[in-house]
Amino acid sequence: MADMNFTGPDPELQDLLASRPQLEMHAQDGLCFEGVPLNSIADQYGTPVWVYGAETIRARYASLHNAFAAQGVPIHIHYAVKANDHLAILNLLHKQNAGADVVSIGEFLRATKAGIAAKNIVYSGVGKSEAELETALAAGIGQINAESAEEVEMISTVASRLGVIASIALRMNPDVDAGTHAKITTGLAENKFGIAAQDIPAIYARSSSLPGLQVVGIAMHIGSQILSTEPYRLAYEKGAAMVRALRQTGQNVEVLDIGGGLGIGYQDEPGLSPDAFATMVRRVTNGLDVKLMMEPGRYLVGPAGLLLGSVILQKRAGKRFVVLDAAMNDLMRPAMYEAWHGILPLDPTAYRSAMSPADVVGPICETADQFAKNRALPDLKPGNRVALLDAGAYGAVMSSTYNARPRPCAVLVDQGGFHLITKRQEVQALWDGEIVPST
Ligand SMILES: Cc1ncc(COP(=O)(O)O)c(C=O)c1O
Repeated sequence: MADMNFTGPDPELQDLLASRPQLEMHAQDGLCFEGVPLNSIADQYGTPVWVYGAETIRARYASLHNAFAAQGVPIHIHYAVKANDHLAILNLLHKQNAGADVVSIGEFLRATKAGIAAKNIVYSGVGKSEAELETALAAGIGQINAESAEEVEMISTVASRLGVIASIALRMNPDVDAGTHAKITTGLAENKFGIAAQDIPAIYARSSSLPGLQVVGIAMHIGSQILSTEPYRLAYEKGAAMVRALRQTGQNVEVLDIGGGLGIGYQDEPGLSPDAFATMVRRVTNGLDVKLMMEPGRYLVGPAGLLLGSVILQKRAGKRFVVLDAAMNDLMRPAMYEAWHGILPLDPTAYRSAMSPADVVGPICETADQFAKNRALPDLKPGNRVALLDAGAYGAVMSSTYNARPRPCAVLVDQGGFHLITKRQEVQALWDGEIVPST
């Protein structure tokens, strides 16, 4: 499938600022995030540094929750831990009453460590090992979304061995095109995820007869960064029809888990509106009498994160390259998905300077180590700082230490102050655990 990233013209720096209420430009302090000058964070902790905004996360959680409340639809939000698995972020969402959606035992343990009770955790993913299932079931996990007939058998075996009852939902692959990037679409028959609709009734019936299992319903997740309600509507109509069909055969169906995937406006394209989404969900599930669950990740945390970097140098070799101290090992999305991230200088005078095109790159020895191509930016001097916007989701979680680059530190801004939430990795820590044989 072709790259489906938004391809509109680049917004101007002022427009990027204007459309993000969490950002503000102060004449003296420069770019501020939730009222905190980003320069003060960079002065104290250096760059690159991840910066997250607690109020932005709370506000986004509330906007989603309230959109459903306005429709009179109770919704159970399970935050998709994969988007940003920092303990501080998980704890913050836990305090908003979110459960968690996890895809590995590591994520499960992180979520419980952050305070989320096992019973409020849903376990998704195509390949959960027996050992992982055992740990999750022994801890009392709330629900497992099974992705294949084979997995259902595995869960039954493990639960029976432990003498517990596993609540499972079957993840149905609705075979709809989410209209997003090929690498983040999950609801097509050709994708590895879920069970084809025509196979659900037989697997549901079989699951209901197996020991150690209580089959509670249907789960769906069709992809990520989805900007229109239409693919969701198509998928959920199939899901609702399946719920009715299963009940007609006498099956018990209590839960419909509608997944995540709500897209955000990286390039100032309109993000998916929670109100439009909730309205559509109410219409499609009207009278269905199910417990509705959802698993948003990016929507909650994407716009709540920045990666701050400093300019190492500007290289002029025919074209202009702005070389940052942040790189693709920190923020992978541009290299991996050709993703577009806004880039804003911290210095207020930069906004009054002449703009000219530049490629913004990192120091890694890969051509893909590029954050932006032909981006209109002012002249940037060594030491000038920039913020890479909307980096709160699928940012730090995907980072690596490629080129022996230690991981950046992270800071949480809250109520006008800021707290270090991850220490910068020491270079020596890069070879922790490595063993040179003595022979
Ligand atoms: C099963 C499942 N649920 C939820 C999500 C969260 O998606 P998003 O961050 O786009 O909301 C994902 C991510 O792709 C997923 O695989």
